[in-house]
Amino acid sequence: MDDNYANAFQNAGAIDKYAHVTYAPGSYAWHINRRQRAYLRGLIRRAFPDLRPTLHDFACGTGRAIRNLDGLVWRAHGYDTSPDMLAKAAELGTEARLHTVAAGGPVPEPVATDGPAVVTMFRLLLNVDDDVRARALAFAAKALPTAETGLLVVENHGNSRSLRHLRANRHAGRRWFAELSHAQVVRLLRRHGFEVVARRGFSMLTPGWYERPLLRRAARAVDGLACRIPGSAAWAVNVVYVARRTG
Ligand SMILES: C[S@@+](CC[C@H](N)C(=O)[O-])C[C@H]1O[C@@H](n2cnc3c(N)ncnc32)[C@H](O)[C@@H]1O
Repeated sequence: MDDNYANAFQNAGAIDKYAHVTYAPGSYAWHINRRQRAYLRGLIRRAFPDLRPTLHDFACGTGRAIRNLDGLVWRAHGYDTSPDMLAKAAELGTEARLHTVAAGGPVPEPVATDGPAVVTMFRLLLNVDDDVRARALAFAAKALPTAETGLLVVENHGNSRSLRHLRANRHAGRRWFAELSHAQVVRLLRRHGFEVVARRGFSMLTPGWYERPLLRRAARAVDGLACRIPGSAAWAVNVVYVARRTG
């Protein structure tokens, strides 16, 4: 999955599916995004009460994170390897300057800005190899040179200590999906000079629960409540980490 991850988003079919099927209104991902949006908007308002930050969304894809923070940031920049994903972001009305970056080679340069900044990285780390992870985190470290500059927000949409893991056991030996543990995320961030200051879960249940008409409503209610319980992020399928530079 990892080597071809940048290629996976270079064709119109995959991009339309991502934008209009994966994130179709009412879908599992759509509900997670709704919860994330509320959380992120609160986070940014609290963390930057005086001066709106510049947003750098790495692997921005269709611009989901950028649109979630509409109106709360001074300016937004989206970076992605897929010009077609960026075109879809523009088509969906994403208010941002969109930049195509290479999949390998030197670490991409964040657009230089004054003032506070937020770096977001959604649905990237899980499915890529260590080199891409390192490159993405090095980009974040450039945009956030000090603890005072701002916050890094990353999503792990496949926490290994969640219900989703049961499927990994069921498919033992022929597993087709990736997992990332809390310890791996913390280590990765630490290696690049970040410490986790908060984490929050956005679904305890797996997509199957949302696909069954009789279970859907109950699943939404359970997830909506369970994710508010302190400590529940440890068991959540979908986890968002908020981090700051150390030192
Ligand atoms: C699953 S999509 C996530 C898009 C968006 N962040 C979201 O959460 O909706 C993954 C994105 O990562 C991009 N990508 C893959 N490899 C990359 C790399 N090496 N550097 C930057 N972006 C990359 C893909 O083009 C794709 O748009």
